Amino acid sequence: MQELSSLWWRDGVIYQIYPRSFADSNHDGIGDLGGIIAHLDDLAALGIDAIWLSPINPSPDVDFGYDVTNYNEIDPKYGTLEDFDCLLQEAHSRGIRVILDLVLNHTSELHPWFQAARSSRDNPYHDWYIWRSSGAHNRPPNNWQSVFGGGAWQYESSLDQYYYHMFYKEQPDLNWHHPPVRQAMLDVFRFWLERGVDGFRLDVFNVFFKSAHLQDNPPKLGLRAFDRQQHIYDIDQDEMLPLLKEIRSLLDSYPQRYAVGETFLSNPTKAARYCVGDLLPATFNFQFLFCPWRPGKFLSAIQRWEHSLTPEGWPTYVLNNHDNPRSATRYGRGEDDERLKVAAALLLTQRGTPYIYYGEEIGMRDITLRREQAMDPIARRYWPFFKGRDGCRSPMQWSAAPNAGFSETQPWLPVHPNYLKRNLAAQRQDPDSLYHFYARLIQLRREIPALRLGMFLPLTYEPRAILAYLRQTPEQTVLVALNFGRRPLRLFLGSQLAAAPWRLLLSNAREHFEGMDQDYLCMEPEEACILIQD
Ligand code: NOJ
Ligand code: CA
Repeated sequence: MQELSSLWWRDGVIYQIYPRSFADSNHDGIGDLGGIIAHLDDLAALGIDAIWLSPINPSPDVDFGYDVTNYNEIDPKYGTLEDFDCLLQEAHSRGIRVILDLVLNHTSELHPWFQAARSSRDNPYHDWYIWRSSGAHNRPPNNWQSVFGGGAWQYESSLDQYYYHMFYKEQPDLNWHHPPVRQAMLDVFRFWLERGVDGFRLDVFNVFFKSAHLQDNPPKLGLRAFDRQQHIYDIDQDEMLPLLKEIRSLLDSYPQRYAVGETFLSNPTKAARYCVGDLLPATFNFQFLFCPWRPGKFLSAIQRWEHSLTPEGWPTYVLNNHDNPRSATRYGRGEDDERLKVAAALLLTQRGTPYIYYGEEIGMRDITLRREQAMDPIARRYWPFFKGRDGCRSPMQWSAAPNAGFSETQPWLPVHPNYLKRNLAAQRQDPDSLYHFYARLIQLRREIPALRLGMFLPLTYEPRAILAYLRQTPEQTVLVALNFGRRPLRLFLGSQLAAAPWRLLLSNAREHFEGMDQDYLCMEPEEACILIQD
């Protein structure tokens, strides 16, 4: 990692916006760039450093933007390139960086490249995608499966060939072994870098290359056909490494540009492998997202991430994104937010870049839909076992106005019925709200170097409901103590630590810190307590 005293993406907090659901400025029920621009002051007030926009390129929305028909344009439902330039300028003028989502593993089947590719085997674009003739028994070329269900090969009768798709059949995978594809994609990076974009989130980057020999994946135990394979030939191929180097040197030819890779089927070891000096600046591993509400689980997720990364690597932490049930739904009890404050303190006191997903800061819960209301195609395939990803994509709850202030017309997905009480305007009025707790944590991170850059030093947690750790630089020590449980507890610190001159930075359960009780810190139920020695 570059030895810079400040690096926006390392030191800052990144806020993910799902543009369809953030704010609708022209009242067609779909969020847009104008809506984001109109709320930049709200984002600046929260204190975040950068926004990541889920895809805004033109898309027929089979996978809501993750199926692109033109990489160098803005979808008209979101606005124009001029609107985008305006968003960039307005964000930058508030000190907010902008990260775009690049979906380069596959295109939409409606992308002109694929339209040409499927028109004939001789078309110059044919080789831009992965085609194989059907074998003697008209069977797919190998046993590879789509993660969204069914086989990964789609038969194209006019060509008597199959094309490969890791996701929906409407999302054909590009052939990254074909040099013109690589060139075209590097040009996409250049196009947006030249426009002033600060970074990219790379959708499933470790799927770009598949083994050219198309060997069958070996079997393993699992529930769905996709999970019953070891994915050793369809992802994580070594050809990825030179490409990542090329992307990195392109990024580094501009000042402080960033990329975070979405590691598909991630684990800390794998995510760490791609996040080193000359590869990507950052990658996601999603262990936090899958932790049950148990301190030990979070601690081991942190330690595995810390131990996997080389000193050049820098962690990322994610409790929410557009693909998973919200943390408020996973961990919250009814409309109570105290536990979510503990989760917020956990996220925002890590050594690593915290990602916040829109609405997380006000504790938005997932909406519940009936089958006929589901928008996400995987919902229809797997209902009722899996109800898709719509739940976490409902419109942002700005106020108690109709449609939660998101739009003047009926939004594309229903607003959560709790919006009359749970909305940003209401939480702004309430100094004890989850919103103010997030804002205060973000501010603390900005003010306290140990919270950004300090070492992570876990304290043996005893009793088991508490997770406690130090964040430490040579000048500062911060103690973070998180009581996950609903009973008051005493955290044993030992005489030396307990005797240090601690000062309260933040707690959701007390205004003043009266000192330790001998060798113990007394904690309230579901308290997040942050103390400093400086
Ligand atoms: C990962 C994205 O997060 C998800 O929303 C999308 O469906 C797939 N990639 C395919 O692009
Ligand atoms: Ca709109």
